[in-house]
Amino acid sequence: MKQYQDKHILEQIQEYIGKLGYTHEPENLYKPIEYVLGLGGKRIRPVLMLMAYNLYKDDLETIFKQAAAIETYHNFTLLHDDLMDNADMRRNRPTVHKKWDKNTAILSGDAMLILSYKLMMESCPPEHITEVMTTFSKAALEVCDGQQWDMEFEKRNDVSVNEYMNMICLKTSVLLAASLKIGAILGGATKEDADRLYNFGIKMGLAFQLQDDYLDVYADSSVFGKNIGGDICSNKKTFMLITALNKAGEKDKAELQKWIDAESFDSTEKIKAVTQIYNNVGVPAICMEKINSLYSEGLNILNEVSVDDNLKNNLRDFTAKLMNRVL
Ligand code: IPE
Ligand code: IPE
Ligand code: MG
Ligand code: MG
Ligand code: MG
Repeated sequence: MKQYQDKHILEQIQEYIGKLGYTHEPENLYKPIEYVLGLGGKRIRPVLMLMAYNLYKDDLETIFKQAAAIETYHNFTLLHDDLMDNADMRRNRPTVHKKWDKNTAILSGDAMLILSYKLMMESCPPEHITEVMTTFSKAALEVCDGQQWDMEFEKRNDVSVNEYMNMICLKTSVLLAASLKIGAILGGATKEDADRLYNFGIKMGLAFQLQDDYLDVYADSSVFGKNIGGDICSNKKTFMLITALNKAGEKDKAELQKWIDAESFDSTEKIKAVTQIYNNVGVPAICMEKINSLYSEGLNILNEVSVDDNLKNNLRDFTAKLMNRVL
């Protein structure tokens, strides 16, 4: 069986997505869809799906529709997420609600959600369609659950680490996990293997979202492709903020609370002050430790998948690159 590395898979799926040709009339509904999908992104979810499939089969092109479907769904969540998070920049370009307007982000997003279902079903083998659609729908709805918690937590000051982990599991992990599981189902994996790949995706997704939150504070904006400090400005209850609230000394804690409670503030000042408190408390190291332990828990689960160990190396390499953000 032929094995494909992430670079090859990425090129193939990129080309396939580029040729989907979503745009037709009314243009202002479909142009933003081509715009956001054309901005690239890491394409993590389709690559994970195709790699999971490649553990069992090598005719990857047979499931390009399903891979494009998961990426279309992901990009739908980004349109709505950027509106909810009031984010101006994504993949180094203006977000859809900035380049067009709010209504465009809502309706083009809705259309993308529908298109993702259409693609997921098209040419899906009848023997797998129920399981694939059930897995997809469960994840798609859980992402909404996670997004709702994320918004509600902005207003609360008593969010626990457990609640945060549950929230990011829903908003981020389940989609990575479902991508892997759908690839496995379509490849004809046993139920046990499909579940192991799902659980591997859950751990990787948790590590990935913790890292995304970390980068929202510490990344270089042009590399990250998003504005820095958005999470701090909107009082997102990230692992970092929760850790800072739990571990800060009295003075830092009072200062942090003052910034959380401030109704009007200068963004640059708030970001600088909160970052300084994170640094005082040693939050970056605590966060990195958590990321690394979730990542190795994920790898241990991957080890249990009952295919020849060598076949898993492409998935290992890809997730290692993901953790180092060299994608
Ligand atoms: C962004 O996802 C949303 C999160 C779950 C953090 P990605 O970081 O995968 O975004 P793109 O698709 O590569 O731009
Ligand atoms: C992403 O969370 C979750 C979804 C898009 C569903 P974030 O809000 O942290 O993602 P970014 O940082 O805007 O990409
Ligand atoms: Mg966001
Ligand atoms: Mg968000
Ligand atoms: Mg983020």
